[in-house]
Amino acid sequence: MNREQISRIAHADHPIKSPLDDDSVRRLLERGLPRGDERVLDLGCGGGEWLLRALATRRRLHAEGVDISEDALAQARRAASDLGVQERLILHHQEAGDFVSSHSFDLVLSVGATHAFGGLLPTLEAARKHLAPGGRVLIGEGFWDRAPSQEAIEMLGDFTDLATTVDRVVADGWTPVGGHVSTRRELDDYEWACWGSLASWALDHPADPDSSHALTTATTRRSEWLRVYRDTWGFVCLVLRRASDRP
Ligand SMILES: C[S@@+](CC[C@H](N)C(=O)[O-])C[C@H]1O[C@@H](n2cnc3c(N)ncnc32)[C@H](O)[C@@H]1O
Repeated sequence: MNREQISRIAHADHPIKSPLDDDSVRRLLERGLPRGDERVLDLGCGGGEWLLRALATRRRLHAEGVDISEDALAQARRAASDLGVQERLILHHQEAGDFVSSHSFDLVLSVGATHAFGGLLPTLEAARKHLAPGGRVLIGEGFWDRAPSQEAIEMLGDFTDLATTVDRVVADGWTPVGGHVSTRRELDDYEWACWGSLASWALDHPADPDSSHALTTATTRRSEWLRVYRDTWGFVCLVLRRASDRP
């Protein structure tokens, strides 16, 4: 069982691969898509869940997603077809950093995928290259809610605290026009959903050769979350405009 298969099973009950509930996703999309006829790009789109929700609720919207996971993109393609939005969705199987387009986008999304660019500011720099004048970026990134252990830093990466994260974004020329800090409940629901779904799959498929690997992975990841980073890690989404876009 490879990482992509594990990820697919783990996210079966939480298709947004980030710690946000449905209402938070809806509100952030409303903030990022004020008109409803925008062109949207998602860098590191995974199963395309943000784009699918945007397309399903806005009939004049067009969307493109980029991801290196063929498995996740195949899932996005199937879901788009089920929703009848496939003609307004283009999926690109490639490194997000290599993506080029002949047109620009009104909203560039990148949630939980800043590692693809080497961090928050390089992700914003990449997003900016794709942004139409007056466009918005919706970015989701981790932060330290309290001082992390060395083990947590090694496991999740080196973030800053929330205020410093936002200060860095503002110093880079962006103005937050909306945002959401994942609640304790959203953070917990996400982890329980992921490791619960994987454990359930293992228990439901005892004869599968991958069953014991899946159960061990679920147990290990749940324990790492509870022991190493549950009390220190947070997640923030920001809706951003360029400060220089002022009329
Ligand atoms: C945590 S998931 C988030 C998916 C989606 N944004 C969401 O919130 O549901 C991170 C995604 O980034 C993708 N990814 C990682 N490195 C990438 C890269 N270099 N180029 C494109 N996608 C990448 C992974 O395949 C995965 O689908």
